[in-house]
Amino acid sequence: MISLDMSKYSIVTLEEVHSTNSYALEYISSFEDKTVIFSSHQTSGRGRYNRKWIGDESENIYMSIILKPVNTNNFPFSNLTQYLSVILCEFLEKEYNLQPSIKWPNDILIDDCKISGILAESYINRSEIKGIVLGLGLNVNMPSETLKKIDQKATSLYVLKNKSFDVEMILRKILDLFFERYDKFVSKGFINIKDEYEARCNFIGNKITIRETGVQYTAISINKEGLLIVKDENGKEFEIMTGDILC
Ligand code: BTN
Repeated sequence: MISLDMSKYSIVTLEEVHSTNSYALEYISSFEDKTVIFSSHQTSGRGRYNRKWIGDESENIYMSIILKPVNTNNFPFSNLTQYLSVILCEFLEKEYNLQPSIKWPNDILIDDCKISGILAESYINRSEIKGIVLGLGLNVNMPSETLKKIDQKATSLYVLKNKSFDVEMILRKILDLFFERYDKFVSKGFINIKDEYEARCNFIGNKITIRETGVQYTAISINKEGLLIVKDENGKEFEIMTGDILC
């Protein structure tokens, strides 16, 4: 294990780990705020709703950002995944000239294929949220044979650009961007990223289905809290707070 101290955050690098999120949650009390657990190989990665997050020997980014704010009042815990998704889109656009879109709440797609997923898990002590583990999986060097094993359309930087990438360099660039704007985001909340987030939600205006209920709506907008606003066939509006959408 190598631990590097830097001004804004520190990275703990593990050669291989079952799941960076599980590891971070297990040892969270011994890590400081803004510690990042990183591995390029994860053996039992977890996704949202207890799904598997597939990874093999090909080097991808599996990382978990540990956030333990001193002041948890008004801390935008529920919008952190949306903040990270905006940062990741910005990174993919600027660095690789890609056009990622966000599938609410926080999947990143390129040409309808998933390249990244985010899993946030709370650290609760005495019934209060004390912190959060913000896990990000980004398919970097995954070849198409492995991508085919994923139960939805998926892609990687390797497939998109036809070359391999240095995962640690990518990790640092993403984290620099994340922490550059982090304090401002924390003080202002979702409104600080609303426009950037919504601009990448290219399903707005389309018919969508909520996976859990199978109910179909038209997606209307993202409100100032980051919730998805939809309307049913009678024009009645609803706020969707959690779940997965099928576009
Ligand atoms: C999803 O789209 O369902 C979320 C996937 C999150 C995967 C990342 S990989 C790093 C971190 N460790 C895990 O076990 N999961 C998250």
